[in-house]
Amino acid sequence: MNEPSSRTALVTGANSGLGFEAAAQLAEAGWGRVILACRTEAKAEAARVRLVERTGKDSFDLLAVDTSEVAAANTACDELRDRGGTIDFLLLNAAATGGKPQFNSDGVEITWASTLVGHHVMTMRLLDDKLLSPGARIVIAGSEGARGNLPTMKVHDVGKVADELFDGDRVAAVDALARIKGPYEFNSTNEYVTAKMVVAWWAAALSRKLPAGMTVNAVSPGSAPASSIARNAPFIMRTIMLPMMKVVGPLMGMAGSVETGARRYLDAADLGDSETGHFYATADRKKLVGPVAIQTWPEYFTDQVSQDVGFDAMVKMTGVGFPDTAG
Ligand SMILES: NC(=O)c1ccc[n+]([C@@H]2O[C@H](COP(=O)([O-])OP(=O)(O)OC[C@H]3O[C@@H](n4cnc5c(N)ncnc54)[C@H](OP(=O)(O)O)[C@@H]3O)[C@@H](O)[C@H]2O)c1
Repeated sequence: MNEPSSRTALVTGANSGLGFEAAAQLAEAGWGRVILACRTEAKAEAARVRLVERTGKDSFDLLAVDTSEVAAANTACDELRDRGGTIDFLLLNAAATGGKPQFNSDGVEITWASTLVGHHVMTMRLLDDKLLSPGARIVIAGSEGARGNLPTMKVHDVGKVADELFDGDRVAAVDALARIKGPYEFNSTNEYVTAKMVVAWWAAALSRKLPAGMTVNAVSPGSAPASSIARNAPFIMRTIMLPMMKVVGPLMGMAGSVETGARRYLDAADLGDSETGHFYATADRKKLVGPVAIQTWPEYFTDQVSQDVGFDAMVKMTGVGFPDTAG
């Protein structure tokens, strides 16, 4: 990649937690332009003020985008096209979860939509409009929960749903699950970890479509309970379990800092051209922080058919495919 001072990054969810921290670390590392892509321009501006104060640099641009909506992602990309310039690091970090089920205007549940819908559309649009630099790094936030081995967090069985309800059509199964029309009752943590599995699939499938030189990886920042990700969690989780996790978690390899988590994203921006299509998360399957490794377990992470299902499901859900012009 070019010199940091001539690089541009775009970070979704840059007003809070890991996204805010990543934006700060990028500016501190000398990145010339960091686009703060937040739900509203007011949130982006508030983040900019805090970031300038922290970093002593004013290398921040603002962008409003609701990552759960197709139309908002398109509008944000229109704005980027009008502004000009290319993006070297696209950090698709935003996600919301918890609370009662809510749906975007196309009927996709918000955990799924905020994690995948706008991020898919933005990536396709930026490719179509040639707004990603030839050596661009795309990173989308994953989660160790997608491994399906955490108590109280169950990854839905897409194959089973497809066989039982959709004549084996796994794309239809993912689409139904994201609309809470599968056989499972809504459970925000289960939706979250299943959406994060699809994140890993999406990144792997996209890596096979991208022009040579560009990379895409799913990266879990690891457990960082000091962020606001659990803001909609049940009362007991917020008031008892999370505070306990902040104290005991680091001793058990189950929680780390927001700084360390965001550093994982930045490390992924430095990976070489051949390091693409992977899901990076904590190497030790029983831990949520520590050294990272490419995830090959469970096998569903490396199964190309499943990966393509993840990408094709996002095309079905959004109506936006991989652009013909992106080669
Ligand atoms: N913290 C952890 O332990 C952990 C572990 C594994 C993975 N992750 C992943 O790390 C990423 C960042 O989470 P975090 O922990 O930093 O949580 P956070 O502090 O709650 O930050 C989430 C960010 O996403 C934004 N966001 C959510 N829905 C959005 C939407 N529809 N449109 C635009 N922005 C939206 C939020 O904006 P608003 O403030 O406007 O809602 C916020 O800026 C997420 O993808 C999360 O799944 C976190």
